Amino acid sequence: MSVREDVLKIFENGRGEYFSGEELAVRLNVSRTAVWKAVRQLESEGYEFDAVSGRGYSLSKTCDVISKRGIEKHLGDDAKYFDINVYKTVTSTNTLLKEMAANGAAEGTVIVAAEQTAGKGRMSRRFVSPYGTGLYLSILLRPKINADEALFITTAAAVAVARTVEEVSGKSVGIKWVNDVFMDGRKICGILTEASFDMESGRLEYAICGIGVNILTPKGGFPEEIKNIAGAVFDEQPSFDAKNRIAAGIIEKFTEYYKRLPEHAFFEEYKKRSVTAGKRITVLGSDEPRSATAVEIDESCQLVVRYDDGSECALNSGEVSIRN
Ligand code: BTN
Repeated sequence: MSVREDVLKIFENGRGEYFSGEELAVRLNVSRTAVWKAVRQLESEGYEFDAVSGRGYSLSKTCDVISKRGIEKHLGDDAKYFDINVYKTVTSTNTLLKEMAANGAAEGTVIVAAEQTAGKGRMSRRFVSPYGTGLYLSILLRPKINADEALFITTAAAVAVARTVEEVSGKSVGIKWVNDVFMDGRKICGILTEASFDMESGRLEYAICGIGVNILTPKGGFPEEIKNIAGAVFDEQPSFDAKNRIAAGIIEKFTEYYKRLPEHAFFEEYKKRSVTAGKRITVLGSDEPRSATAVEIDESCQLVVRYDDGSECALNSGEVSIRN
């Protein structure tokens, strides 16, 4: 580990506590100059320190820079099951992790970024991913399931996000079928699961579950194309490291469900949080948009819809919009 990493670990584990340069130098068995350089480097990366003469430096409680150490701190003992890689900017965490998966990366490899320049959404749309106001993360899975069960990965992730965001923000969170997480009538998170199949067995070779959460509204607002739909978890920066906390919560809760995927342990919670069932909707997909009523979410996590001509069908992909 570099001095920067060691110094950050101490500051993250003792947020709000003061450490003098001398104390850190002794603990890490390096020079005070090396400690000072590491602190300066961290500051240049956006970390905020409070400095008090005679006491030293403390990592500000409100500092919300995403870091491997910060996420691992919140994961506690479970951190050892994951290989967490944090980047400031990537094209897309899904794209990057797919390359790693194809090169043999292990299940539990996670990529987290503070910005995506080519964030991908469903239906070939872009996912707006500006620096500093969102959390963009992808988890590599190697599940022993058939292709038609892949929907459960997305739905389990939606429940993990909803529970985590609710816990951290204290506000109630719903799920719009299939994978949009909503707060106060606005979409605060989207999920895109991409998979590679083994044609012979019909089973998944790997799956990448990609999750994007709007933590704050970007400066200047959301772009025109999503400004009427998108929302953020917080109205203003909370007084704690929200991104690391939310990342760890999602990873932890998703993994609980993933370990027991065939049991569908998330299903009751998914249904309870559904903001779709019972609503008038428009079914969007490859065909013309059609008006319908969302009847229920069935045990396969499909949305049962009743079209206005009385015919019913269970959707397992595509998109619906809720009509007000
Ligand atoms: C959607 O709502 O259309 C799905 C959005 C999924 C966005 C996440 S952000 C992390 C991961 N990387 C991507 O490029 N996309 C997903």
